[in-house]
Order: sequence, then C-alpha cells, then structure tokens
Amino acid sequence: MTRLSLTSTPLNQVAADALVIGVARKGRSLVVAPGAEAVDKALKKRLESTLHALGATGRAGEVTRLATLGATEAPAVVAVGLGDAPGRGERYDAEAIRRAAGAAVRQLAGTRRVATSLAAVNGDGSLEDLRAVSEGIALGGYAFRTYRVASKADHRAGVGSAAIVVKDAKDKDTKAVVDRAAVIAEAVERCRDLVNTPAADLHPADLAAAAVELCGGAGCAVEVLDEKALANGGFGGILGVGQGAAHPPRLVRIEHAGGRAGSPAVHLVGKGITFDTGGLSLKPATAMEWMKADMGGAASVITTLWALATLNVPINVVGWLASAENMPSGTAIRPSDVLTMYGGKTVEVLNTDAEGRLVMADAIVRAGEEKPAAIVDIATLTGAALVALGSRLYGVMGNDEDLSQEILGAAGRAGEQCWPMPLPEELRKSLDSDIADISNIGDRNGGMLTAGLFLKEFVPGGVPWAHLDVAGPAWNEGDAFGYTPKGGTGVPVRTLVEWLSSRAG
Ligand code: BES
Ligand code: MN
Ligand code: ZN
Repeated sequence: MTRLSLTSTPLNQVAADALVIGVARKGRSLVVAPGAEAVDKALKKRLESTLHALGATGRAGEVTRLATLGATEAPAVVAVGLGDAPGRGERYDAEAIRRAAGAAVRQLAGTRRVATSLAAVNGDGSLEDLRAVSEGIALGGYAFRTYRVASKADHRAGVGSAAIVVKDAKDKDTKAVVDRAAVIAEAVERCRDLVNTPAADLHPADLAAAAVELCGGAGCAVEVLDEKALANGGFGGILGVGQGAAHPPRLVRIEHAGGRAGSPAVHLVGKGITFDTGGLSLKPATAMEWMKADMGGAASVITTLWALATLNVPINVVGWLASAENMPSGTAIRPSDVLTMYGGKTVEVLNTDAEGRLVMADAIVRAGEEKPAAIVDIATLTGAALVALGSRLYGVMGNDEDLSQEILGAAGRAGEQCWPMPLPEELRKSLDSDIADISNIGDRNGGMLTAGLFLKEFVPGGVPWAHLDVAGPAWNEGDAFGYTPKGGTGVPVRTLVEWLSSRAG
C-alpha cells in the first residue's frame, strides 16, 4: 500500500518524483484548483496555459504530465482532472477529490515518491478533504500481483509513498485523519485481496483461516464451526449448499467487544460462497468467470471487523461468515430437494443457483439468537441487482426505515454508492412452495426484491434488519476508474466502518 505522510513544505520545494495538482473544467476552459500556487509561481505563472496547450481539459480522472525542467524540486507536475469546477459558494465534493487522487496515483504506478496539493483544492484545509485525498491515494495505489510471475516486471506496484501538503503537518487532528484513512484503506485492500484470490486457493476453510489470522490478530474472538459442528447444530442451509463440494462449508463467528459489556451488539452477516457454479442448476461458462467473488460479502465482514478492532471503535459488533462452495456433483443438492434450515423452517430448493439466500438464512437465524441491536447482511445475492441498479450501486432493503437511513447516510459520507429498494409484500406469495414452508425462488421480475423477501422470513421479529445486495459494486468488471481497480473493489467496507463508527459516537 502507498505510504502516506504529511508535509507543510510548499509543493514546489518538496523532493518527490512527481507533484500531483488538481485541475478542473470551467465552461470550456481549464482552471487550476487552489493549492498549486507555489508551483505556478515557480513556472512563471504559466501552469494553466501550458496545461491547456498540452490538451488538458479538467475532465474527471484525466491525467496530464508536464516536465518542469528544474523549475521545481521534483522533475514533473501531474495535473489530475476534478471534473466541473464548483460555482460560487460551492465546493469540490469529497468524492470528486477522492477519485482524482486515486486516478492520479493509479496512473503513476511504479513512481517511488509523489507529493500533492489535492487536500487544498477547496482552499480551507478541511479535514474531510484530507480524508478523501488520503483514502483516494491509498486505494488508487492498489495492485494485486500475487499471481504474476513472468509478467511481474510489466505490472508495476503502486506508488511507494505520498506526501500530502497541509497547513500544519504536526497538528494532532490532522495526523489522526490520515492514520485513520490508512487503516480504512488497508481494510479495503485486504478485502480486495480476498475477493481477487482464485477459488482454488480460497475454500471455505481458508476464508475461516483468514478471519482467524486477521481478526484474531487484531484482538477479536473468532470461532469456526466446521462441517461436523454444522451438522450437530442443524445448519441445513449451509450444509445443503456445501454438500456437493469436495471442500466442506464453514460458519464463522467474529466478535469485536469494543463497547460496554452487555450492550447489544450489531450483527453483520456476510455471504461467503467461495465459488458459485450454480450447482446442478449450472451457470453458463461466461456467468461463472467472476464467481470467485461470490464471497465478497463475507470478505467485507472480515475486514470491517479487522478495521473496527484496529481502530478500537467503542462498539460491540459480531460478524458472521456463511461459507460454502456451490458445486455440482453426485452429492450435490438437486432442484426439488427440501432442506431443513437452522431454526427448523423447511425450504424447497427449486434452483440450486439461488444458494446465497440458503446460507444467509441459517446465519441470520443464528445471529438472531443473540438479541442483536440490529442485523445487517451483505451479499452478492442476485444478478437482478445489476439489472436494477447497474454495476456501481448496491441495493439497501430492510424492515426498519431508520436503520436504512443510517446506512444510506454513512455510504454518502464514505463515498460509496447505493440506493434504497422496497420489499413489496405482494411478491412474497411467489415464494410459496407446494410442499415445504417456502421455496428458494420466486418471481423473476424484481429478483433482487424476492431474494430480500426470502431473507426477511428468517429475521426474528422485532430486530431491525438491513439487507445490502452488493452483487454489482463488489466486483468491477469494467475498466479501472478513480481509485477503483478492476476486479474486487472492497465495497461496502467503507460504508460499514463509517456507519459503525458513527453509531459508536
Ligand atoms: N451469486 C449469484 C448472484 C450474482 C450474479 C452475483 C451475478 C454477481 C453477479 C447468485 O447466487 C445467483 O446465482 N443468483 C441467481 C438467483 C436466481 C437463480 C433466482 C441469479 O441472480 O440469477
Ligand atoms: Mn448462485
Ligand atoms: Zn451466489
């Protein structure tokens, strides 16, 4: 990860390989954002005209490099586009700054040291902007190179270190913002690593081991139920989904006891399907290409708990990982089989590819036994979520308006995109089974909502619950943008850490 530091040296005098400044679009012309004055002066006030001559427009994410030929301590200036310049009385929003910082660092991969004035683009040294720059740099510097061997040299690691120019680099609050951003970015990057790891190297037992290593190492109590314990406990959903695989399922409980003893914990439940072939209801080959990412919810739970423990957030949180590999085989569940779930409800499995809700239901019922303050589940649950919201937003459903609003608010502050979705009661009857308590598939139209309604059946009465369907944004199938790489993105770790930190007060 790119190392972050603070400096109060004017940007033109900072020893670095590149100086990152912000530019923006004002009507048809380019403007240099505040913070680059010292560099502009060193360049005889020709920064704007030179960048214009080089074709820079200020478009979001655009990177323009310019050699300073000795005019500044560093040999190059890198202008990154912030998009449209704010109008009078308006500000560059934090997410635009976060993305610009990420885009610059991502495109500077292989550079040893950069320095930047991006925390000053609003001209007031706001700590929110500093947080955005710090996160953007750290996240944009991500590279997953574990599996590169012969091609390693062609795929350079991210930027080594970044110095952020601020008014007072020694100020305690200022330092704290950067330290916190570094931990959050590290959590996101660990989440990306888990999601990007091929399923052959990340079976349910490996996911459990990652939780033990990371969260256990940070001071959480971690408990792993293996296939025998799951059978003894009656976890029919997790066992049913896992029964076709050579690698057995796991249920993991991770506890961060940062709050008052005895005060009810928030429970996070993550879908941990380490590979989703669809089972006997087999997916077509192209739909399987990124199904190693079907444990993105569980990865976000592991790394959120790690961040909460590392930051000593004063709140009680319990994380659950419902993990199995969904494989077709002679021992796999068949369409029409009936599973008895944890807690006793029966489910007719009409489509073995609707497996996420089966493992999640068991874990939600188990979490519900602990009198939780709230349950939030995170799952790459439906392709329908992508149809409804595209690939960059996750859907937020649930039974409690206040809880949903808290999560939507936290996502906005953290710079992650999501949208509230309903759970229309009239869709529930499409889940009726001819022979069991409920079927695992319902109306195809509104598939994200029927999946949510299925989960709702397993939430104990009176417990505030939210369901995040992150099938779209947990994985970036398109090109990298801003601070978001291809592949695993780490969504929704930043939302969860932000939400739980603000709940802790
Ligand atoms: N893991 C998939 C959902 C998914 C699809 C995530 C695409 C990311 C990208 C889930 O287990 C699944 O297969 N859902 C089915 C449900 C259907 C059979 C009711 C789906 O969405 O097609
Ligand atoms: Mn599936
Ligand atoms: Zn799945």
